[in-house]
Amino acid sequence: MALASVAFSSCGDSKFNEQPAPPQEENPEQPGGTAPEESRRNEQYRPQIHYTPAKNWINDPNGMVYADGVYHLYYQYNPQGNDWGNMSWGHAVSSDLVRWEEKSVAMVRNEWGDIFSGSAIVDKDNTAGFGKNAILAFYTASGEHQQQCLAYSTDGGMTYTQYEGNPVIANTELGDFRDPKVFWHEESRKWVMALALGWSCKIEFWGSADLKNWSKLSTFTTTCPRSNIGQWECPDLLKLPYKGGEKWVLIVSNNPGGPVGGSGTEYFVGDFDGTTFTAMDLDYPLWLDYGADNYAGVTWSNMPGGRTVMIGWMNNWNYAGSVPCNPWRSAMTLPRELALKEVNGTPLLATTVVKEIDGIAGEWKEAQGGKIDASDAYEARFKVSLKESSSFRLENSVGEYLEVAVNPAAGKIVARRTSSTGAVSFNNLFSVPSISAPFNIEGEEMELCIFVDRSSVEIFNFDGTMAMTNIVFPKEPYNIISGPADISYRDLKSIW
Ligand code: FRU
Repeated sequence: MALASVAFSSCGDSKFNEQPAPPQEENPEQPGGTAPEESRRNEQYRPQIHYTPAKNWINDPNGMVYADGVYHLYYQYNPQGNDWGNMSWGHAVSSDLVRWEEKSVAMVRNEWGDIFSGSAIVDKDNTAGFGKNAILAFYTASGEHQQQCLAYSTDGGMTYTQYEGNPVIANTELGDFRDPKVFWHEESRKWVMALALGWSCKIEFWGSADLKNWSKLSTFTTTCPRSNIGQWECPDLLKLPYKGGEKWVLIVSNNPGGPVGGSGTEYFVGDFDGTTFTAMDLDYPLWLDYGADNYAGVTWSNMPGGRTVMIGWMNNWNYAGSVPCNPWRSAMTLPRELALKEVNGTPLLATTVVKEIDGIAGEWKEAQGGKIDASDAYEARFKVSLKESSSFRLENSVGEYLEVAVNPAAGKIVARRTSSTGAVSFNNLFSVPSISAPFNIEGEEMELCIFVDRSSVEIFNFDGTMAMTNIVFPKEPYNIISGPADISYRDLKSIW
């Protein structure tokens, strides 16, 4: 059963209750191990610069952790098919966050249930006793109830052993209680876990000294009525530099209360004292991305250089089950670095594609608009006027296009994902004529930075305080840019 078909049950119901318990293989085959990576270059709609598995369904990114020179990306994965189900943790590794190599499935359903979303950390001081530098994964086991479980890896994240004391946080009462994100809180010298309570629109914080025994610290919710539309999932709490000091940012995925309907990622800015998160009084909701397709993103743990880097699922529960991709379904966004920037007195989360993208980029070229000499994936930069209304199009040679309007009077850009963009009829929620984002820039012009792949367009303003990610399904890649006069662009080479 496609998850989307049960995602709109009334408040209080768990969207997962109706999932059948899947049969599980003892040793699941290496996913995609049978398909040469090169085949990913030729399939229609196959993203060339975004992570996808060779085959089968994926959703949320999970357990992102850096360990011993390797970036790990686990994710919700169905080893047995191209629809949501049999939830397991698929696995890919990278040395640069951009080029990924798919590995064997890391965890499959166990006695406690399906392996839902979660996080991973490196236990440098062996606080849990599984060994110095063991990688510990926390996930929600979704069976009769949603409970938090722990598994550990002593072989660099390739295989995991279930902790015999599972579940580490038992639950028989709450319908929605999931997606543990664990981090070390230096100031109070303890581990903290953020957990989402789905339709209750609450985030709980739990604390632990040894990663096995957890006690509840506090509950965060909001009185902002807008934020209570939809269920809360996949939280993350991070500390970012701000104006010579620091602020904490609570990331919450919200479905179906997103900015375009369906899935979206919102955030709250405030303070965390080791027990309680207190949000500043800002004009919420604030969205990490104003497009339709950036969900369930959380940040890497143990990032070198103090960087804060996130990746999201580039899809939306409104139509995820029917996007026309085969033999895989769904991609991740490009990884993005997060920072807080002050805009008109408000701290806004800015996202920019990680600098490692340079590793697959060709030379910058210039064009005056029209057909550009780019491959299926490229980055384009150009300025748009903020003095009067204008629009530009990303087009292909068969007449399909994504139109983006710039509306300075409203302070917004508006992407029009209609049937002009390519295939839309696979789901009646996919066509959205007006996907709008505040551009958060003052002045006479704004520089945009756009990443185009075969089936996605990610648009950023130059400082990253506006991001808009939308998937599209044109027959051919968009290699014509009409509207702007001077365009800089560079090829992004296929990662396959
Ligand atoms: C978010 C989510 C999580 C859950 C997972 C199940 O997209 O609903 O809350 O853990 O997907 O696949």
